[in-house]
Amino acid sequence: MNRKILVIGNGGREHALAWSFLNSPSVELVICAPGNGGTANLPRCQNRSIAVDDFAALTNLIKEENLDFVVVGPEVPLSLGIADHFRSCGIPVFGPIQQGAQIESSKAWAKEFFQSANIPTADSATFEDLQLAQAYLKEKGAPIVIKADGLSAGKGVVVAMNLQEAQSAIEDLFAQGHKKLVIEEYLVGEEVSVLALTDGDDFRLLLSAQDHKRIGEGNTGPNTGGMGAYCPAAILTPELEAQVKQKIFIPTLAELKKRNIDYCGVLYAGLMVCPDGIVKILEFNCRFGDPETQAILPLLKTPLDELILACIMKNLQNFPEFQWHQGSCVCVIAASNGYPGNYSKGKLIKGINSLSDADALVFQAGTVLKDKDLLTDGGRVLGVTGIGEDFLAARKQAYSTLEKISFEGMYYRRDIAIKK
Ligand code: AMP
Ligand code: GLY
Repeated sequence: MNRKILVIGNGGREHALAWSFLNSPSVELVICAPGNGGTANLPRCQNRSIAVDDFAALTNLIKEENLDFVVVGPEVPLSLGIADHFRSCGIPVFGPIQQGAQIESSKAWAKEFFQSANIPTADSATFEDLQLAQAYLKEKGAPIVIKADGLSAGKGVVVAMNLQEAQSAIEDLFAQGHKKLVIEEYLVGEEVSVLALTDGDDFRLLLSAQDHKRIGEGNTGPNTGGMGAYCPAAILTPELEAQVKQKIFIPTLAELKKRNIDYCGVLYAGLMVCPDGIVKILEFNCRFGDPETQAILPLLKTPLDELILACIMKNLQNFPEFQWHQGSCVCVIAASNGYPGNYSKGKLIKGINSLSDADALVFQAGTVLKDKDLLTDGGRVLGVTGIGEDFLAARKQAYSTLEKISFEGMYYRRDIAIKK
């Protein structure tokens, strides 16, 4: 077979997806739109500089290159209806239709969905009015969590430890133009990311992962898109996994079907394991996680294209059990100094070309190739992913590889997957 695949997006997640597809004996070519410096350098991979929301140009590309199917990486084009568009053109696509993508793009929609399907989640209320929201805050007290309704690239959630912080958050979010806010109960516990692939009828879980959202070591400082991840997450015992399937994924799929939403893609559950052993859903994302994907896919043994095609063909039920490599994976993000605030771009990245097979994998995110020079082009620049028989070995490989790479202002946390 000689499959040709389009991957939409330009992050570390998309580099990992392209890399994983190219490990399959059935994949001949991956095209990334727009891709990054990492996908530009992958053998049998090409970049096309087409924006993720330019549906017409993407459709032309798929037809001209005779591509077999499309995987949509980021949430923005999904929330704009890219999967609906491809479906209407008869193009096989992995990624949910717009209605399904609301599970991520609208917190208010998602909370109503969880309530109506009886899925365990934090108590909450939705507000479109500042005064009513303020009154609710006074009634509930702090700590409390405020969430803007729309997509906000990880910046729409404020975990307020006191009432003053909560008051300012609602004022700021309304002032920024958000029309709806969800105010929800603060949950204590340990977070874990569980991603399922689904064809709309059945689902299969991938190995669980944990993300490190804060910029600083010891989980301090502002939230980021994720400064590292590791897989598998020890907290997800077989008992908890059974609970997650039973109480979260089965009712979610049933509710989607009840609403006639034919969901083909990833259901990424951001979960809180509460101290009483109950798992609650914090959020669903409608796509692969970043950087979780960079830590999960290197452990996947079954060819990724086969799994994705089984979903697209609605044949997951008959698909053999997913196979995984033994061991652990640790992805450490190297970011530009200043991220998640302001940072500069265009810094020369050194050391990647001289790495060997004994080094960690380097998934590139904010990079661009200019006249053979690899330059920084974003906040999160690289995802250096160590693989080992245990977390110690995987961390060691990731961190020793990071020492061989440099760019001006490179910053990374030294405590990713520590004590695991
Ligand atoms: P979300 O985008 O809903 O996942 O929220 C982003 C982050 O905010 C989560 O990963 C948690 O760390 C935190 N968070 C969200 N909701 C809650 C909650 N109800 N209780 C405590 N922390 C939360
Ligand atoms: N790692 C968090 C996310 O992908 O949303």
